[in-house]
Amino acid sequence: MSTQTIVITGTSSGFGRLAVARFAGAGWNVVATVRKESDLGAHGGIEGVKTLLLDVDDEQADLAFGEIAFAQFGRVDALINNAGYFQAGPLEATTMDQVHRQFQTNVFGLIALNKAFLPIFREQRSGVIVNVSSISADGGFPYTSNYQASKAAVASLTEGLHAEMAEFGVQVKALHPGNHMTRIFSKVDTAKDVPADYVDSMDVFNTLNTVRSDPAGTAEVMFRMVVDGDRQKVHYYSGPDGEAIPRVKQLLGQDWYFQELSARNRAQASPLWNALMPQPVAAN
Ligand SMILES: NC(=O)c1ccc[n+]([C@@H]2O[C@H](COP(=O)([O-])OP(=O)(O)OC[C@H]3O[C@@H](n4cnc5c(N)ncnc54)[C@H](OP(=O)(O)O)[C@@H]3O)[C@@H](O)[C@H]2O)c1
Repeated sequence: MSTQTIVITGTSSGFGRLAVARFAGAGWNVVATVRKESDLGAHGGIEGVKTLLLDVDDEQADLAFGEIAFAQFGRVDALINNAGYFQAGPLEATTMDQVHRQFQTNVFGLIALNKAFLPIFREQRSGVIVNVSSISADGGFPYTSNYQASKAAVASLTEGLHAEMAEFGVQVKALHPGNHMTRIFSKVDTAKDVPADYVDSMDVFNTLNTVRSDPAGTAEVMFRMVVDGDRQKVHYYSGPDGEAIPRVKQLLGQDWYFQELSARNRAQASPLWNALMPQPVAAN
């Protein structure tokens, strides 16, 4: 069998960049995308990596990208839809333009890329798609509702596609990373003119989220999702604060989980929550 090929979007930094190195290190060919010409050298020197320009906001470019990616190495076995960014702040102070742009990148671009690769994977009766969602899609973080809604859309789309593509041997999976130290937090599209009423609670919430895990762990989970051959599992989590979620939800049930998470987000975490839910481990 010739060398397997993966396509990864948003590889200038963070999870995407680490995933390129992880797959290339395991002998895969990688089609890595960046959106800025200045990042075309991001993977310079790594054997088997071709770096191409793609702004995922451009749906026509996304829809054409399946064939372009296939042509690079003559096959495609997996796709990681990783590109995304964080729009944050109270919804009241978030403009509709910010809402549309968040969904254009995190949801509509991702859907177009899924569509670009589905015919290839369906016809070859194999393929893995990893759509990057977030733990915020599991519910209940304030000042994050627009981003959270975009990531919940990704998770929900993935569940539907998983069911739709299983008969063709195609695996579609969602990744829910916990809080990780990447460049995403230096590029936040924040809501402007936030009413003063929100400020005290926002300050409290922000102090709860300063410890962030090493993103290399998430690149490792991405690798596992692609190679584990598990055709049943849809949702994967990364980071200690992510990996605990399915277990804690199972223990508490949906409503109690939501109450405990909400209390935690007001800096009023119960002893039960603190015992059940590990914190991120600070990256070096
Ligand atoms: N870090 C976390 O704690 C965390 C938690 C849950 C989920 N996530 C998700 O993980 C994914 C990767 O984020 P990260 O944390 O690794 O952050 P990152 O270091 O900022 O990486 C995000 C990547 O996406 C790219 N990107 C953004 N908008 C794009 C567009 N329109 N077209 C093409 N590429 C675009 C960025 O390119 P530029 O360099 O050009 O901006 C960058 O390469 C995102 O989907 C994010 O929502 C992150």
